[in-house]
Amino acid sequence: MKKIVLAITGASGIIYGLKLLENLVKSFKVDLILSNASLSVMKYESDIAISNLNEFYKKFPFNNLTLYSDNDLTAPLASGSYITEGMFVVPCSMKTLSAIANGYSDNLITRTADVMIKEKRKLILSPREMPLSTIHLENMLKLSRLGVIIAPPIPAFYNKPERIEDIVNFVVGKLLDCMGVENNLYMRWNG
Ligand SMILES: Cc1cc2nc3c(=O)[nH]c(=O)nc-3n(C[C@H](O)[C@H](O)[C@H](O)COP(=O)(O)O)c2cc1C
Repeated sequence: MKKIVLAITGASGIIYGLKLLENLVKSFKVDLILSNASLSVMKYESDIAISNLNEFYKKFPFNNLTLYSDNDLTAPLASGSYITEGMFVVPCSMKTLSAIANGYSDNLITRTADVMIKEKRKLILSPREMPLSTIHLENMLKLSRLGVIIAPPIPAFYNKPERIEDIVNFVVGKLLDCMGVENNLYMRWNG
């Protein structure tokens, strides 16, 4: 199985990261990095209240899932010699966006993103904030110019979503499209 990296940070929209995880494990060996802040936001936004990574494994018992703490800079992912198809950061906080844009690699998420950029692998960020400041926009522009895909979790309404799940599936389907992963999570526009 090919490997792919997913990082979940402490921006609102943890549900997008979890839905993405459920879909990625269908076809990849997934290396998942949870930021410390993501664990706090998870408590507010979902019924998942975990204090350590083992508890997360119990909630998501996938054989092809490996979890990493954001503090673990000795993980294989921190090196370009560890080959992966690419990386998602979903949702991506403005703090992590800023660190990636400036090569400030002091945790496993920002270091792995730095590796993706230097190795010219696919890096897809889903930044969530509103409104966006000039700092946020400049960071996104800088990354976009480097080939990083900036794909914010913005829903569309032409497909008439009725439930939160419809909105989440639309966003996650578009994120998978960005990585070139086949999916039928949302109804495509056929004209
Ligand atoms: C409930 C909650 C929601 C948050 N939502 C956002 C958000 O949407 N965007 C953002 O940039 N930061 C948000 N934050 C702040 C981040 O969690 C904070 O900046 C943190 O340092 C990010 O760290 P990380 O990028 O290492 O996960 C939120 C914090 C909390 C507690």
